[in-house]
Amino acid sequence: MIYLKTSEELELMRAANTLVSQTLGEVAKWVAPGVTTLKLDTIAREFILDNGGKPACLGYGGFPGTLCIEVNETVVHGFPSSYVLKEGDIIGTDCVVELNGFHGDTCYTFAVGEVDEKVMELCRVTKESLYKGIAAAQEGKRIGDIANAIQTFCEKHGYGVVREMCGHGIGKKMHEDPEVPNYGRRGIGPVLRNGMCIAIEPMINLGSKNIVIERDGWQCRTKDRKPSAHYEHTIAIVDGQTEILTTFDYIKEALGDRFI
Ligand code: MF3
Ligand code: CO
Ligand code: CO
Repeated sequence: MIYLKTSEELELMRAANTLVSQTLGEVAKWVAPGVTTLKLDTIAREFILDNGGKPACLGYGGFPGTLCIEVNETVVHGFPSSYVLKEGDIIGTDCVVELNGFHGDTCYTFAVGEVDEKVMELCRVTKESLYKGIAAAQEGKRIGDIANAIQTFCEKHGYGVVREMCGHGIGKKMHEDPEVPNYGRRGIGPVLRNGMCIAIEPMINLGSKNIVIERDGWQCRTKDRKPSAHYEHTIAIVDGQTEILTTFDYIKEALGDRFI
């Protein structure tokens, strides 16, 4: 069931999504060669707890981190570890915060030092596809319009659009109805209505769209081991307008001229 939020609930959604955005702003300050992904996870966890939030991924279905860590070929759900970031890596950090009973969800893929131009282009296009999806997310339109906007744009660039993982509704629960795929036909699926909150999150591969889930049941990588990028915003439909509840502004502030 799709749960439409009241204006009081939207206010709580704004607060949770601001906190999760600020959290990735803190993480951004630490992304550099020589830093472990466990360190990034600790920074995120402590920041969330210091600000009265709950790291919603930690313990969710047994997940071991505050952040999902997505280095290079990892698509989603990677574990924080003793892996040391090195020049040329890309790393997605996906974070969910619960604050006063509501959830905020955002993901950003960072470049670690100098990154191959082909991989930077994958990141730029994936981020742009997120905004194409958001532009299609208008009151009265359908989920398929978002999906199609993302797919069309990414495939035009020759990239693989992951099928198995989707965006989602969000609110009192991290994952609510509806599913928000990154591929599909225009004009199909649930209608976007006032009060709907959804997370839009293209997961886009440099090579083929195929993925493999590791034996731990979580960590997901590209089958061809080529890099994958992932950006995510949580949005709401409010009074006929589309409001982006998360922001990359804190990341932008932290990265300065390294922000893409
Ligand atoms: N942040 C992810 C999403 O975008 C979900 C994380 S799964 C968890 O939907 F197990 F880590 F919580
Ligand atoms: Co997420
Ligand atoms: Co999400």
